[in-house]
Amino acid sequence: MNYDEKRGLLLKGEVIADLEHLRKLFIMPDSPDKFIEFGNELLNLIHSFFQDKGGIHSAISLPELAKIFSDTNLPKYPHLLKDVLSEIKSKVIAHSVKVGNPYYIGHMTSAIPYFMILLEMIIAALNQNQVKIETAKASSFVEREFIAWIHQLVFKRTDSFYKKNIQNYKIALGNITSDGTIGNLTGLLVARNKAFAANDRFPGIRKAGFYEAMRYYKYRKAVILVSRRGHYSIDKIARTIGIGQDNVIRVPVDSMNKIDIKALQQTMGEIKQFNDANDEKIKIISIVGIAGTTETGNIDDLVELKKAADETTSHFHVDAAWGGAVLLVDDYKYMLKGIERADSVTFDAHKLLYSPLSMGMVLFRNEKDLDNIKHSSSYVLRPDSVDQGRFTVEGSRPFSCLKPWATLKIMGTEGFRLLFGLAFKHTNTIKNLVDKHENFEAMSTPELFIFTYRFVPGEIKEKLNLLMSRIEQEPDKSGAARQKVRKINNMLNTLNVELHRYLREEDNSFVSRTRLESTRYYPQKVVVLRSVTVNPLTTDEIIKEIIDEQNTLGIRIYKLHFANNFLKLS
Ligand SMILES: Cc1ncc(COP(=O)(O)O)c(C=O)c1O
Repeated sequence: MNYDEKRGLLLKGEVIADLEHLRKLFIMPDSPDKFIEFGNELLNLIHSFFQDKGGIHSAISLPELAKIFSDTNLPKYPHLLKDVLSEIKSKVIAHSVKVGNPYYIGHMTSAIPYFMILLEMIIAALNQNQVKIETAKASSFVEREFIAWIHQLVFKRTDSFYKKNIQNYKIALGNITSDGTIGNLTGLLVARNKAFAANDRFPGIRKAGFYEAMRYYKYRKAVILVSRRGHYSIDKIARTIGIGQDNVIRVPVDSMNKIDIKALQQTMGEIKQFNDANDEKIKIISIVGIAGTTETGNIDDLVELKKAADETTSHFHVDAAWGGAVLLVDDYKYMLKGIERADSVTFDAHKLLYSPLSMGMVLFRNEKDLDNIKHSSSYVLRPDSVDQGRFTVEGSRPFSCLKPWATLKIMGTEGFRLLFGLAFKHTNTIKNLVDKHENFEAMSTPELFIFTYRFVPGEIKEKLNLLMSRIEQEPDKSGAARQKVRKINNMLNTLNVELHRYLREEDNSFVSRTRLESTRYYPQKVVVLRSVTVNPLTTDEIIKEIIDEQNTLGIRIYKLHFANNFLKLS
């Protein structure tokens, strides 16, 4: 039992605060032995997490977890590192989600290569702060090199452009950000500042603020156009940069979940009409294209969107947080045709670059665009400095780009060709299984590794198909059929939510779920299951097992709770 002079006996696990002991906790030249000893222990701990064959989510309930982490006392006395590691093992690791499990095919957060753990150790050990060169020497150059690689991939400017600018500290080709949200924020902030720029008579929106900018430029409001599949970060950004979320105009999508170009043109036409008739006009600050929508993985027609942006003289931002990485593979570049003409592009490393959380980036075709948010301060970022922090929304930033930078070397673009090839194969596998299955219905056409579908017992599917063909043949006389379809879909929505809940309880596999309006049942929103098949450890056999389990459970739930209601409906 430990004893403290002021407090008396210490509780189990507590030790006396001792400065010498505390100093030894910091990395010192003479303490590598401890570092290696605990490093091994830590790696074993992590290894046991991956070896554990238990369920994906751990069975503990959320209230039970809340109880474990409800100690209102701030730790006053030190604890031994080994005791804290053991607490982390039992309380945290044991109840973490196994997102790398090959049966976990429900989210963009997935498996990572093991070397990422080692790279994270280097990042932590070096503790570089990318905000400025005084705290990030070689790592600043790595960052610039990595940004130039991805810039080149997206915008394909000339070799001489990259030779000249790869390490040119006077400009920034883009930023490493903490995630895709900050990537999108940076792109749209630049768009806003460009739209309401400074000139001889106006100091610009950055200085004068939104209200003065509207007054000076004679605008009533500023809007962003994006499809209904746009990530919710666009709404957050509109709230943050003063646009207001109501001014994110959500354009409908077609049956492929791509922005409906006709609907977009109609919206643009309405804005033009409004502007022709009013002194105070509406400014489109950006048209946003999506290269890999979060819910369905589909890609907008970027060529058409660029034309629309030119027509409205607005900034063209592409949110390629999900799909941007397929540009690494020549065979797939055609899918993102037009991205090279974007003004800015968001990319996430913690998605298809297989990096652990978190790292995003934003790239600008024009190397001067980031001047629109450039700043300086006399203490960290002097105007004549070489610091990357002059161009970023964020302040202190970790050396996270080491992970994708090293990954590209370790795997090469050839490695990514194989990984993405496998992901395409698995996406086809699940789609084919669903298409051929009497009890499932495909709800979207996959492009980039995401597929949505739902459980529909065969007898209901037959009925729905009949009703839908009646509606198609006689659209004007199909009120009753439409009504029936609506009721059946409401029931199927409840059935699929139930199925998803049961699957979570079984915890053998995981797919996510969302609601889509863009199916053949438009405008009714239907509940769909969503698979994201990018884990290279997943196999065709595993996917088949997952669908089989969903089918078995689905039939059981249907027979128990829904079959009678369905009979009544028909
Ligand atoms: C298309 C798209 N954009 C932006 C984001 C936001 O990225 P992050 O979660 O890294 O902030 C996501 C995340 O899923 C996304 O799918």
